[in-house]
Amino acid sequence: MTTALNTQFGINGQLAFREDASGLIVANINNALGSASLCLQGAHLMTWQPRSQTVPVVWLSRDAKLAAGKSIRGGAPVCWPWFGPHATEAGFPGHGFARTVPWRVIESGTEANGATRLTLRLVASDKTRAQWPHDCNVDLTVIVGETLRMEMSTENTGAADFVIGEALHTYLQIGDIGQVSVTGLEGGEYWDKVGGTNKRKQDGAVSFSGEVDRVYINTAAECVIHDDKLRRRIHIAKSGSLSTVVWTPWVEKANKMGDMGQPDGWREMVCVESSNAMENVVKVAAGSKHTLIVEYRAASL
Ligand code: BG6
Repeated sequence: MTTALNTQFGINGQLAFREDASGLIVANINNALGSASLCLQGAHLMTWQPRSQTVPVVWLSRDAKLAAGKSIRGGAPVCWPWFGPHATEAGFPGHGFARTVPWRVIESGTEANGATRLTLRLVASDKTRAQWPHDCNVDLTVIVGETLRMEMSTENTGAADFVIGEALHTYLQIGDIGQVSVTGLEGGEYWDKVGGTNKRKQDGAVSFSGEVDRVYINTAAECVIHDDKLRRRIHIAKSGSLSTVVWTPWVEKANKMGDMGQPDGWREMVCVESSNAMENVVKVAAGSKHTLIVEYRAASL
């Protein structure tokens, strides 16, 4: 399996596929600009570190496990075709099924600046059709270099319109959750999901002293994570996305989750998710294509 993949899509000295002990296949990218790894199940980017940084920018739990049909804790889970719980079917998986099903590689290459590009397509099956009976192509392209660019497109190849919710649920590596702030969302409206679901307005930068689980709506703004401890800023710029989710489980929830790298793994991550959720779900008309693009960049202070 990996031999055929390496022959068709491997790039000498830059991109190689290997089989993990779990049997899942992982793409390893290493170039002059940065390194990354991505599990083909879920098209799940697990790690990314540009050469300029001594600490990874994307966080992966030290307890992350690769297993067939299970989402990986950390990295950039792909939430699709709904975000959070399904609107009507309680038995359908939270955040959709895209992150737990196989995807296949359809293209790879090198950008003019030396970054490595890899494109995967979600593999539809009887199981996915039972939850999503619509014809479509869902592709994720990652471009790994000094920045990380992720492009997720949904092409409606059927005869009827459909509506999707989605997110690139990226876990970013930080020094300590109590010492970071997120700017870009000032004055915005959000759904606060801690202790019920209430609509609130953001006052100033977002800082953290307890569980935060918020869906900011109607925002295309770039967000910046200000990290005094690691002495860097992480910039998250996006298009095709009008929601931004900010999430930290804090200690109690992290203890219950069991795969956050306890006792303190949760302190070293924050999720800033580029999304279309709540009232920002997207109608994809028959024959049309919608694309969500996010670019991550770290700047040392
Ligand atoms: C966030 C949600 O996006 O993802 C949270 O807003 C949720 O409510 C979190 O707990 C993690 O989800 P999961 O399914 O990966 O454990």
